[in-house]
Amino acid sequence: MSKADLIDAKFGDVPYMDRQRAEILRDIITENNVHDVIEIGFYQGKSSAYIGSILEDQNAGHLSTIDLATARKHSPNIEDILDQSGLSHRVTPFFAKRSYTWELQRLINANPRPQFDLCYFDGGHTWDSTGFGALLVDMLLRPGGLLLLDDMDWAIGTSRYYENNPKLANRYDPDEAASQSVRLVWDSILPHLGYEHVREYPEYQYGLARKKF
Ligand SMILES: C[S@@+](CC[C@H](N)C(=O)[O-])C[C@H]1O[C@@H](n2cnc3c(N)ncnc32)[C@H](O)[C@@H]1O
Repeated sequence: MSKADLIDAKFGDVPYMDRQRAEILRDIITENNVHDVIEIGFYQGKSSAYIGSILEDQNAGHLSTIDLATARKHSPNIEDILDQSGLSHRVTPFFAKRSYTWELQRLINANPRPQFDLCYFDGGHTWDSTGFGALLVDMLLRPGGLLLLDDMDWAIGTSRYYENNPKLANRYDPDEAASQSVRLVWDSILPHLGYEHVREYPEYQYGLARKKF
């Protein structure tokens, strides 16, 4: 049984990433000779396990992935899923006290600074967090590196989380709440940084962009 099949069998019901999306990641990784991957937002670690399984299949590569320290409380959590999938050696989880933005600062100023071929960005979809996060990730991507943004159509105004937390939603101007903030980063910040829009995957709300060489 392949590692991806094992993840499906053991953790099929765990949110969020599903096998179809994992196969998109597989194509991106194998077609672009990707070895070093960084993920923003792992939740219970299902996407991290799929990415780790793809790297395991090609017998090369490593994933660094960041979420909040509170993600340890999930059952199963990322460490359980990686352990039970035999993929702990392919993935290093970073548990941020406040935000991935500070963990990214730590990586940027580490000596030597780690460099990545691909970032799968799936955490904190607001303008502030995605915009600043993309800028920081850019500093860690190799020339020609890939940035895969998830939730391109997400908006505060249509988010269930913000619907259930109206006080939080009310902090935003109506036009910000109505905006698709990940898409705004795609449209305005990535071109400013010199990224090429490679393609969108509309069914999956993915956008793939490439840093200039
Ligand atoms: C949609 S979930 C990730 C799902 C995961 N990639 C998957 O497909 O299985 C988004 C995650 O981003 C994390 N997140 C959001 N804002 C964050 C921040 N500022 N710092 C760290 N993690 C954050 C949340 O804790 C949540 O677990």
